[in-house]
Amino acid sequence: MADQDATRWDITSKIAGNLDRHLVFPLLEFLQTRGIYPEEDIMNSKIELLKDTNMVDFAMDIYRQNNGTEEVPVEMTERRKVVIGNLTQLQETAAPIVDFLLDENKVKDLRNDKAYNIKMLQDQYNISQDDIEVLFKFAKFQFECGNYSACADFLVQYRGLCTKLEKSFSALWGKFASEILLQNWNEALEDLNKIQEYIDSKSFTSALAQLQQRIWLIHWSLFVFFNHENGMNFLVDMLVQDRYVNAIQTGAPHMLRYLAAAVIINKKRRNILKELIKLIKSEKYIYSDPVTEFIICLFVDYDFEGAQKKLKECEAVLANDYFLTACVDDFVENARLFIFETYCRIHETIDMKMLANKLNMDQESAEKWIANLIRNARLNAKIDSQQGTVVMGSQHPGVYEQIVEKTKSLTARTYHLANAVIGSGKVNS
Ligand SMILES: *[C@@H]1O[C@H](CO)[C@@H](O)[C@H](O)[C@H]1NC(C)=O
Ligand SMILES: *[C@@H]1O[C@H](CO)[C@@H](O)[C@H](O)[C@H]1NC(C)=O
Ligand SMILES: *[C@@H]1O[C@H](CO)[C@@H](O)[C@H](O)[C@H]1NC(C)=O
Repeated sequence: MADQDATRWDITSKIAGNLDRHLVFPLLEFLQTRGIYPEEDIMNSKIELLKDTNMVDFAMDIYRQNNGTEEVPVEMTERRKVVIGNLTQLQETAAPIVDFLLDENKVKDLRNDKAYNIKMLQDQYNISQDDIEVLFKFAKFQFECGNYSACADFLVQYRGLCTKLEKSFSALWGKFASEILLQNWNEALEDLNKIQEYIDSKSFTSALAQLQQRIWLIHWSLFVFFNHENGMNFLVDMLVQDRYVNAIQTGAPHMLRYLAAAVIINKKRRNILKELIKLIKSEKYIYSDPVTEFIICLFVDYDFEGAQKKLKECEAVLANDYFLTACVDDFVENARLFIFETYCRIHETIDMKMLANKLNMDQESAEKWIANLIRNARLNAKIDSQQGTVVMGSQHPGVYEQIVEKTKSLTARTYHLANAVIGSGKVNS
């Protein structure tokens, strides 16, 4: 039986439906380590996933492990024969161009001019455009075999010689997938940008096809967003654009989890809070999870206690999410600060003694904690030592003014600061 509490918020299948099957593999491996699904189910999914790839030996290994046997089904051995046969044949047909590309002396003859190169290859090496096309097939085959570095290399070279826009674009997707699987995040980011540029260009005649490409792109890009050091900024930059908001609303509302998490974790991006809230509210009946509900609790309902409860749930949701699992601590810490700041902002001036009391700290430590937050630019406030108060500075007035307006009649709720801020246990550190 699956652990239903833990799997309730699992969106792996929604994401997997928008990924290349090779990219789904890391997600399955991750779920396996989390142990929230029966081992056998994951193994079967893996075998199913590998069935249409050329990673035949890998599939056999998993089958053997799963069934505790040395025997494998005859389809598997048959498929292996076919794959090897095809590989051998492709290697032969691709030999002219591959041999050329592997020869450093010959490659020197290439110039930054496609037309020249194509003619030169034909005239000097008897390599035709058809031979060049074989390179694409060969690269794709390597990819299916799990040889991503060979695939990426061949695709770069193919794109350098390919004159057909669409084919070159397909090759770019293939390269993007390869770079992701090789965990080359800078290269992957470059490909991501190129793909985005191409999708947004006029080359697309069908709006529907364009939308589909965007939906795929945001899913594939999650790998970059959560691995590249600057990834969460790129995520926000991309997803707040109208055309990507449209893609989220049409085909990927679950993406709101990642957008919300990125905004909570990355304080600099709180400028889009207002749009985020609007988007979460508008999608509420189609998609919600503890992360989006946290935002609603805090900024729509001004329910500090509720937000604290949601935050607890978020911890579990993030821990079981392939992309967010490494951000749990960052998320919790920033979310807590978010609650605290919102509370503070509503009050404008907070009595330090009261705060220390609620935080279960002596006044000096509370003051130190606040001073630290201020020094690290995590809280826009001043300490008035004489009065023994914290005076909040104003920031992002839009959202907070609204809150202050709305909470004038709701002040009772804000007394739950104790639960909201303190549940942390981290405050003292
Ligand atoms: C092998 O090649 C045949 C003939 O080109 C093709 O129909 C088949 O799909 C290929 N199989 C694989 C696994 O590449
Ligand atoms: C050029 O290649 C074609 C096949 O790709 C072959 O039939 C022909 O003999 C080759 N010509 C030379 C001069 O090698
Ligand atoms: C990957 O492909 C390259 C080029 O065909 C080959 O030289 C290399 O041995 C392959 N690597 C693996 C692990 O199969």
